[in-house]
Amino acid sequence: MSVRMGIVNLVSVLVLMIEVMASYDPGFQANGLSMNYYLMSCPFADNIVKDTVNEALQSDPSLAAALLRMHFHDCFIEGCDASILIDSTKDNTAEKDSPANLSLRGYEIIDDAKQQLETQCPGVVSCADIVALAARDAVFWGGGPYYDIPKGRKDGRRSKIEDTINLPAPTFNSSELIRTFGQRGFSVQDVVALSGAHTLGVARCSSFKNRLRNFNSTHDVDPELDPNFAKTLSKTCSAGDTAEQPFDATRNTFDNAYYNALLQKAGVLTSDQTLYTTPKTRSIVNGYAMNQAMFFLDFQQAMLKMSLLDVKEGSKGEVRDNCRKIN
Ligand code: HEM
Repeated sequence: MSVRMGIVNLVSVLVLMIEVMASYDPGFQANGLSMNYYLMSCPFADNIVKDTVNEALQSDPSLAAALLRMHFHDCFIEGCDASILIDSTKDNTAEKDSPANLSLRGYEIIDDAKQQLETQCPGVVSCADIVALAARDAVFWGGGPYYDIPKGRKDGRRSKIEDTINLPAPTFNSSELIRTFGQRGFSVQDVVALSGAHTLGVARCSSFKNRLRNFNSTHDVDPELDPNFAKTLSKTCSAGDTAEQPFDATRNTFDNAYYNALLQKAGVLTSDQTLYTTPKTRSIVNGYAMNQAMFFLDFQQAMLKMSLLDVKEGSKGEVRDNCRKIN
C-alpha cells in the first residue's frame, strides 16, 4: 500500500514538474514549436534572418511594412505555413496571385535568407519560420517592440487563389472585423492592436476610393472622413488606382501615430476608421493613442498569437528546399 502511494506521489510530482517546465521554460512548447527549436540544428538561424532583413531595410525602409503584411497574409490563409510564397504553375494559381495579394512585396528578402540558411544548415529551417522571424525583425527595425517567437513551423503543400477569400476586406466595418478575427481566436483588443500594423506602410487608391465616391460633391464622401483628409485622399487618387497613401505621417516608423490619425478622422481605410467610430473599439483606440507602451505590449501578444495560427507539425508539412516551390 505504502509503495503504491509512493509511486502515485512520484507520478504527481513528475506531472507537476512538467507543468512547471511548460509554463516557465521558453524552450518547452506543447504544439511542437519551441523558442530554441534550432539551437542544435541551426544555431544562427535567427541571426541570419535578422542580418538579411536589416540589410534589405537599410536600402529600402519601406520593405518593413511589406514583411509585416506578408506574415499576416500567410498566417490568415491556411495558417503560418509559407503558402503565400508559392509561385503559381500552369496547373495551379497560387495565393500570391490573388488581387488581395498583388501588392505584397519582399519575397526576394525571404529567398535571400533561405539561400544563406540552406548553405549553413541544409533542409532545416522552414520558410514559414523565416517569414515569421522577418516580420518580427521588421517591427523592431521600425522602432517597435521586440518579441520572441517559438520556431518549428512546417511549410504547407497547398496554396490556392480561392482560399484568399478569407482575408478581411478594407471595406469591413468593426463588426465584420471582430467576427472574422474572432473566428480565429482573436479578441476585440487583438483586432485593434493588430490593425496598428498600419502604422507602417501605404495603401493604394484602389483600397480606399470607396470612401470618396463623387468626391467633388461632399455629400457622398464617407462621413467618418475629415473633410481636409478627404481632399488629401482625393488628390492621391487623381494619380490613379495604384497611387499610394501612407497610413500615417510616419510610414516607416512603428509608433502609435496610426491611432492618433484615427482620432483626427484621418484613417485611410474604412476598416481603419471604423475602429474609432464604434464605441466597442473606440476606447481601445483612445488608450493606444495615449499610451504607446500599452499598444506595444498588446501588439506583441497579438502577433505571437497570430504567428501560431494553424501551424503545421511533423508530417503535416515539410521544410521546402526553395520557398517558392513545394518539394
Ligand atoms: C484588420 C484587417 C485588415 C485589413 C482589412 C487590411 C487591409 C489592408 C489593405 C487594403 C492594405 C493596402 C494594400 C494596398 O492598397 O496595396 C494594407 C496594407 C498593410 N497591411 Fe493590412 N489589413 C488588415 C490587417 C492587417 C494586419 C493584422 C497586419 C499585420 C499584422 C497588416 C499589415 C499591413 C501593412 C504593414 C500594410 C502596408 C504594406 C506596404 O506598405 O507594403 N494589416 N492592409
